[in-house]
Amino acid sequence: MLQRSTITFIGGGQMGSALIHGLIQAGVSSTNIRVAEPVHDQRRALIDRYKVAAFPDNCAAVPGSDLVILAVKPALVASVLKEIAPYLAKETVLISIAAGVTLSRLVELSPVGQPVVRVMPNTPSLIGAGISALCPVAGISAAALAQAKAVMAAVGEVIILPNEAMMDGVTALSASGPAYVFLIAEALSDGGVACGLPRDLADRLTLQTLIGSAKLIVDSGRHPGELKNQVTSPAGTTIAGLMQLEQAGVRGALMAAVMAAWKRARELQ
Ligand SMILES: NC(=O)c1ccc[n+]([C@@H]2O[C@H](COP(=O)([O-])OP(=O)(O)OC[C@H]3O[C@@H](n4cnc5c(N)ncnc54)[C@H](OP(=O)(O)O)[C@@H]3O)[C@@H](O)[C@H]2O)c1
Repeated sequence: MLQRSTITFIGGGQMGSALIHGLIQAGVSSTNIRVAEPVHDQRRALIDRYKVAAFPDNCAAVPGSDLVILAVKPALVASVLKEIAPYLAKETVLISIAAGVTLSRLVELSPVGQPVVRVMPNTPSLIGAGISALCPVAGISAAALAQAKAVMAAVGEVIILPNEAMMDGVTALSASGPAYVFLIAEALSDGGVACGLPRDLADRLTLQTLIGSAKLIVDSGRHPGELKNQVTSPAGTTIAGLMQLEQAGVRGALMAAVMAAWKRARELQ
């Protein structure tokens, strides 16, 4: 489906670039991808790396697009939409990945009632291992929703949310989540170094432990608590480590981190 669509990104920063990279990796032709990006060096990097068409001017990038993906900071969404409004066709699918910008606000800002989809992706989309939650405007056509799903499915899993109120929880868990995991990875590796392991070995052990454990949860279909119990022998090493984590309140700290991000996502609306 995407091979016949022109996909235009407004904003080629972290997330815009990650999605472009993911789409190219997934086999979408670079001739079908455009990006509007004000920063010269960033445009040059996108052209060199992905051979996409890059424009300094948003309005020049939009005409003829089947999908337009708003990948600018949330505070810029309104001004960017006003700017590109005259160039958007009625059937162009408008996807916003901006945190905290609601569907009703997007609909209010979309000039002629375009099909609008609010999406929350995450950065593992860069390697096709992302997860995106989609919330389409009521009454969207099956064809428009299928196009939005196809774009996000090219870079990872796709979930259609039953209601938009869940978007803040998604933002707090899966969009902010990679940062929590990176912090945990860094700390585990530091622990290995504190035990006398060389840094490169500690990093390697940490990463494969994280990848393998996540895969084990998925492939076994078993609850993480059950898998934890399996590796915890009486008076052994693992229970000694786990006791330390519980005493330090790691479980509560992770829950509080997700809730703090959720509260912040709600404040940003
Ligand atoms: N990063 C994530 O993990 C993540 C996850 C989920 C959702 N998001 C959402 O994705 C959106 C983009 O985030 P990001 O992390 O990719 O931010 P970013 O790296 O700052 O990217 C935004 C890009 O848009 C450019 N830009 C600024 N003004 C513009 C304009 N008027 N027209 C076109 N482009 C313009 C920026 O250029 P300048 O550098 O000149 O400002 C920058 O290159 C945000 O709304 C965020 O909520 C991000």
